[in-house]
Amino acid sequence: MTERKKITLPVLRNRKRNNKKISWLTAYDFATARFADEAGIDMILVGDSGGMTMMGKESTISVTMQDMIMFTTSVVKGSKHCFIVGDLPYMSYQISDEEAVRNAGKLMAIGCDAVKLEGGKEMAPRITAISNAGIPVVSHLGLTPQSLAQIGGYRIQGRSLASFKKLLNDIVAVEDAGAVFHLLECVPEEVTAELYKHVKNPLYGIGSGRNVDGQLVISHDMLGLFVGDVDPKFVKKYADLSSIIKDAFKNYKDDIENNLFPEEKHLYSIEGEDLQQIVDHSNKNLKD
Ligand code: KIV
Repeated sequence: MTERKKITLPVLRNRKRNNKKISWLTAYDFATARFADEAGIDMILVGDSGGMTMMGKESTISVTMQDMIMFTTSVVKGSKHCFIVGDLPYMSYQISDEEAVRNAGKLMAIGCDAVKLEGGKEMAPRITAISNAGIPVVSHLGLTPQSLAQIGGYRIQGRSLASFKKLLNDIVAVEDAGAVFHLLECVPEEVTAELYKHVKNPLYGIGSGRNVDGQLVISHDMLGLFVGDVDPKFVKKYADLSSIIKDAFKNYKDDIENNLFPEEKHLYSIEGEDLQQIVDHSNKNLKD
């Protein structure tokens, strides 16, 4: 059996050349990262969506570098083979090149293989600055959740000529600036196919159809674990873990109330002289 190798940027480029699609999932904790790694998933995104999936926030806007550092540290421990992309949270890179490089460096120091930031042409200087520090940068275009207020909600992007022209302009600009690959969120499949013609580096999609080099899905969405109002059409549900978890919790509660847990096999016990000494001592010290 050939030993499984860590996924690197050359591996990802090679996959594109050979028309072999990659699988990409989000993870925010040690166990999920370990499961993804053991399942043979190619890439993990430690997304700022962790603010919503793990912390119950309404959006990603208040996610901090400290939150991302905690998620990322746990994920890096869990994965040996996946290519790990760390998400730069809101206002960790928008203000200046210096802050962008410093914060990207923090995620790399934990063990990420690349960092992701949202935005198009206006982010080109940041992408170049981070790349010049030796850090691979992934661009995130289309629906960019950190700009939800500007976009006006979770809306499909690229549905008009003007919107397509902007996306095209942006993807060419971020690639020229040094982005090693791109993530396109919520764009119609036909529009994705047109954008694909204009980039050399891998283009991955989330809710952007099949004309891409691989797919990203938020693990909580595909596992039926997301607690909230967002339920995107593009997600295929592979499990309903929330029902499984709730059933387990209910059974546990019922067992306790009906004296069915713990059973004999769950007990630690002692016997013989050790037990007798304890009982004698306890009885002697009983207060009247
Ligand atoms: O944080 C995240 O999970 C993301 C995806 C929504 C693309 O950026």
